[in-house]
Amino acid sequence: MMNRDPSAPAMTQEELKVLVGRAALAYVEPGQIIGVGTGSTVNCFIDALAQAQLSIAGTVSSSEASTQRLRAHGIPVFDANEVAELAVYIDGADEIDPRGHMIKGGGAALTREKIVAAQARRFVCIADQSKWVQTLGRFPLPVEVIPMATQRLIRQFAALGGEARVRLRDGVPLVTDNGQHILDVHGLRIPDPVAFESMVNNWPGVVTVGVFAHQRAHVCLLGTPEGVRTIAFETP
Ligand code: 5RP
Repeated sequence: MMNRDPSAPAMTQEELKVLVGRAALAYVEPGQIIGVGTGSTVNCFIDALAQAQLSIAGTVSSSEASTQRLRAHGIPVFDANEVAELAVYIDGADEIDPRGHMIKGGGAALTREKIVAAQARRFVCIADQSKWVQTLGRFPLPVEVIPMATQRLIRQFAALGGEARVRLRDGVPLVTDNGQHILDVHGLRIPDPVAFESMVNNWPGVVTVGVFAHQRAHVCLLGTPEGVRTIAFETP
């Protein structure tokens, strides 16, 4: 734990994101190619990476948004197909549980996030303490879907007790970087994330479910009022 001065004023969620974004630099070494996730916490990491001038060889990015931000800082971005293995993947989460299972996809980048995470030896999750849960399911579960399957998938989630809604942007279905749509499923409780991820990934029309259990985090850097808590998860 990195301790803070207890007399200092309470940190905002934004400040906690900056804190964990900076803490993730400890997992990056000069010369490496690293995987970079998506979201406001990762944006803090990208900015910290640029400031630190670590002279990494480059990155593989999980979204057009992160690619733009990385390139704006002059950090090279490679196509995933140009790189065999990544030393580390650094990304945020919408929820993370005590075993390192996560819900992701609040930024609609879940499919590319899983692809980049699969190439990395280590997944470092950076999150403020509001993301920590005992059981996944409080955050509406994002699922990237092929649009022609939407109504059937809504019915399949309803049979599990979930209410799936098509994510909208400016009043029309949001289109992901992969040209697909997102369902946000409310009201699910996911006590067995491994089995749940396997089941939903097998439903025709599902591109990716936002449960990251098969590719859970190895380490979580959790921003708390006391400082950054480093949580290393046991390997199975
Ligand atoms: C994007 C993600 C993000 O990691 C997740 O939504 C957390 O975002 P933020 O850091 O903005 O809270 O999965 O698809």
